[in-house]
Amino acid sequence: MKAAALSALENEMMVMGESVFKFEEEFAQYCGTKYAISTASGTAALSVTFQALSIGHGSEVITTPFSFIATANSIIHAGADPVFADVEDGGMNLSPSRTRAKIRSKTKALMPVHLYGHPSRIDEFHDIAAESGLSLIEDACQAHGAEFKGKKVGSIGDAGCFSFYPAKNMTVGGDGGMITTNNEELADAARSIRDCGRDKNSKYYHGRIGFTSRLNTVNAAIGRIQLKRLEAWNQARRRLSERYRKELENVRGIILPPLEASIEKAVYHLFVIRTKVRDQVKNSLTENGIETGIHYPRPIHLQTPYRQKYGYAEGAFPVSESLSNEVLSLPMYPTLADEELVRVCEALKKILVA
Ligand SMILES: Cc1ncc(COP(=O)(O)O)c(C=O)c1O
Repeated sequence: MKAAALSALENEMMVMGESVFKFEEEFAQYCGTKYAISTASGTAALSVTFQALSIGHGSEVITTPFSFIATANSIIHAGADPVFADVEDGGMNLSPSRTRAKIRSKTKALMPVHLYGHPSRIDEFHDIAAESGLSLIEDACQAHGAEFKGKKVGSIGDAGCFSFYPAKNMTVGGDGGMITTNNEELADAARSIRDCGRDKNSKYYHGRIGFTSRLNTVNAAIGRIQLKRLEAWNQARRRLSERYRKELENVRGIILPPLEASIEKAVYHLFVIRTKVRDQVKNSLTENGIETGIHYPRPIHLQTPYRQKYGYAEGAFPVSESLSNEVLSLPMYPTLADEELVRVCEALKKILVA
């Protein structure tokens, strides 16, 4: 990665260099889409996509309140309004039936999130979107390489959006994002919007109000190397998640992540358990030198700007709200050693029987 970054710095344009286009081509090929358009972040990928689809002022996009805040922010950045539907009972992804119940004349798109690398019920969303004439955007920011019915996520909806923030399953050595699509018109519009609204092949003629939201060349060069390793890393995450399940299957007081259906392939961006005594468990693990995370301690509708802008209060989305109180992300990264994983599980078992 260092060599690739240095070579890009020495030999290419810093912005829109050759590596950017190669990375886009390779990422599209990996996802099985015709086009991929890189951006400065996952948030930018989402927001540029909405703008490329002319989803803005007066439009609504239905999405989940149980995600990273950028999922909903991106809709507001585009000028539209997010409308939340709760997640499935017993799951963590957006519920198709609750989504259907929120559709009204202002609704222009549905945006499920493949949370923690676990594919959402994308074929049901596909049917609902088709029935109602809506766009379907996949927030695949946590799910690089995950599959549904043999297709990579990001290749099923009208567009898929990815983040390369360093904590993700692959990174570009900093912030970055990618839009995947089979729609040529959407691809052309997104390419223009992320690049100051420029017309194709022109420098100072602008057909759109765009942004400076490109992926830097050095980051693209790093991304190309990371992409080659993604499958192996995902494989390691899947193996580790199996080991976690085996070690923790009979432990009382915790709920393991939902099992994959045979048509799904999850990539375990995170391995998230649920427990009613989450905060005690987290503190005790910390005392044992084990770092854990909470994704996310507050659902989006209860974050201050959403309370202020839309008037949300506790109780609006009960499933998401209880998840926020119960979820705990255990250590998960491709180089986690089996002995370390076992140590985490042993500590967890001790805390739960204490
Ligand atoms: C589900 C989800 N959506 C959107 C984003 C936004 O991506 P970024 O941080 O690259 O802007 C992230 C990640 O941070 C995410 O996890």
